[in-house]
Amino acid sequence: MCGIIGYVGKDSAAPILLDGLRRLEYRGYDSSGLAILNGSGMEVRKCSGRLQNLRTLVAGSPIKGSCGISHTRWATHGPPTDENAHPHLDNTGKLALVHNGVIENHQSLRNGLEKNGHTFRSQTDSEVLAHLIGDIFDKQTEGTAEMRLVDAVRKALRKVTGTYGIVVVHEDAPDFLVGARLGSPLVVGLGKGENFLASDVAAVISHTSDAIYLNDHDLVYMTGEDFKIESLDGGSVSFEVSRVEFTEEQVEMGDFPHYMLKEIFEQPDSILNAFRGRLSDEEASAKLGGLNLTPQQLREVDRIVLVGCGTASHAAMVGEYLIESLARIPTEVEIASEFRYRNLPLDKSTLIFVISQSGETIDTLAAMREGQRKGHRVLGIVNTVGSTIARESDGGCYLHSGPEIGVAATKSFTSQVTVLALLAILLGRMRHLSMAAGKQILQEIRELPDKVKTILEQSDRIRDIALKYLDAEGMLFLGRQFNFPTALEGALKMKEISYIFASGHPSAELKHGIIALVSEDLPSVFIAPSDSVLEKNISNIEEVKARKGPVIAITTEGNEEVARIADDVIYIPPVVECLSPILASIPLQLLAYHFSVAKGCDVDKPRNLAKSVTVE
Ligand code: G6P
Repeated sequence: MCGIIGYVGKDSAAPILLDGLRRLEYRGYDSSGLAILNGSGMEVRKCSGRLQNLRTLVAGSPIKGSCGISHTRWATHGPPTDENAHPHLDNTGKLALVHNGVIENHQSLRNGLEKNGHTFRSQTDSEVLAHLIGDIFDKQTEGTAEMRLVDAVRKALRKVTGTYGIVVVHEDAPDFLVGARLGSPLVVGLGKGENFLASDVAAVISHTSDAIYLNDHDLVYMTGEDFKIESLDGGSVSFEVSRVEFTEEQVEMGDFPHYMLKEIFEQPDSILNAFRGRLSDEEASAKLGGLNLTPQQLREVDRIVLVGCGTASHAAMVGEYLIESLARIPTEVEIASEFRYRNLPLDKSTLIFVISQSGETIDTLAAMREGQRKGHRVLGIVNTVGSTIARESDGGCYLHSGPEIGVAATKSFTSQVTVLALLAILLGRMRHLSMAAGKQILQEIRELPDKVKTILEQSDRIRDIALKYLDAEGMLFLGRQFNFPTALEGALKMKEISYIFASGHPSAELKHGIIALVSEDLPSVFIAPSDSVLEKNISNIEEVKARKGPVIAITTEGNEEVARIADDVIYIPPVVECLSPILASIPLQLLAYHFSVAKGCDVDKPRNLAKSVTVE
């Protein structure tokens, strides 16, 4: 939520900042702006709407200077107007700030500053922070402007309640950036004669692969040649320089028209990367060394809680079915925002997993910290290397999916389910799962990438089906057992990128109210592979057909019965029931994608959404 990037070096800052913002746009796209020190003063360009508006503004009125800050916004306080766009200036107009997070006590701080003669230009919480830092800076007389700025940031942040990732510049301290973080990510990019501060390494990957992931309460200040990281109270902190794993090409769209389609088509590889090196034929089990738990500790686990938001919570639900059926360990799924404020009774032998693509979702992060506060070991299933959850969890597994940029999660879902399947096998093989059963599932996992390819080959056919239902007023998604969560995920994809009403339900729940919605204008998508509940699903399809509801069915190749009753059928290859959500979710991703494109929606940047939700 909100992306920030700051640059100090020898090159022209504007193109570097604009390019960095392009890579951060997935974090929010309500408005954007930049502030650059041009040698004699500060110049600001900012406007509402997509980044293209800012590009046009800067092209029409270029700015020189090699030190600056920039921001792409997901609005929290105040609508997405030009005035509310970042950067925000202090009362003198000499200090500029970009902020990601929420300043909870902004109103009382604002009241105090207004009483002292400050005039605010926006409705944002962030502008208050700019004024507060500027106010303290102006009252300091001792030391260089640079160190006065550092000191002012430090003192101002002590007065603040809330979360922040900030970068600040001041006219009196040219070629100097100050940054700090609490609750919102901030990464230092180290270049040659130039340095960066950004919400995500993706923003600086064209310039450097050396990064330092800051921790909460860290404060950093830098020139192009040097940097210093301290704690907010002035103490020393330890940090390490990490090598960024992914390449610039991985964050580009290549020949695909959208990131979402690229990421859907990456799934044969991303699923392979999720299980590569983790299958043990000898033991008919999985190897997950990063869990940092001995076999004895794993054997003692008698309850599992899986925590996540959005798509990650749907993957967690598949995980619940997987772990309970393969390992027979009672498992429950908690939505992170609920878990963190709820006093769930947990005992010592409960293991908590937090699941997050970004590793930065604020509620998931807070849920992890809450679990740890109560003395629990909390493990992470995370995609983004170096993210806060990856660093603060007590162990876990990376997805190795590569960067996911489309706001609608796709490849992260199938990788999360793959990793959860590995976990279920590992725990199962320590309990009741036989060697033969373990071997069979490992073999099925190995075959997933090729099976996914055959589904992707049907993309054009799925587009034709999507076009047929373009006038639908909404869509129901229905599935049973392992594919009830798949139905939830299918509905989420459809509504988030196509803006039509869509909801997912267990197929049998139809009769408990939902069937009242069924009509010729409301298609139902049934996930009905040839599995243990096929006959039950077929009965539910019949119930919808009897009420003139159109049916799109996802079923297994060769299933003629479903083909006979459904209006449209999408086939997936045969697969063991517990892994079927991995295959069945892919036609649903493609259905939502083609539907959204045909409706003319912005697939990669759906309205009101952001990929990384770093505010509550
Ligand atoms: C946002 C995204 C979703 C994602 C959810 C959780 O809502 O739009 O696609 O599933 O956050 O994100 P995480 O990074 O924690 O998996």
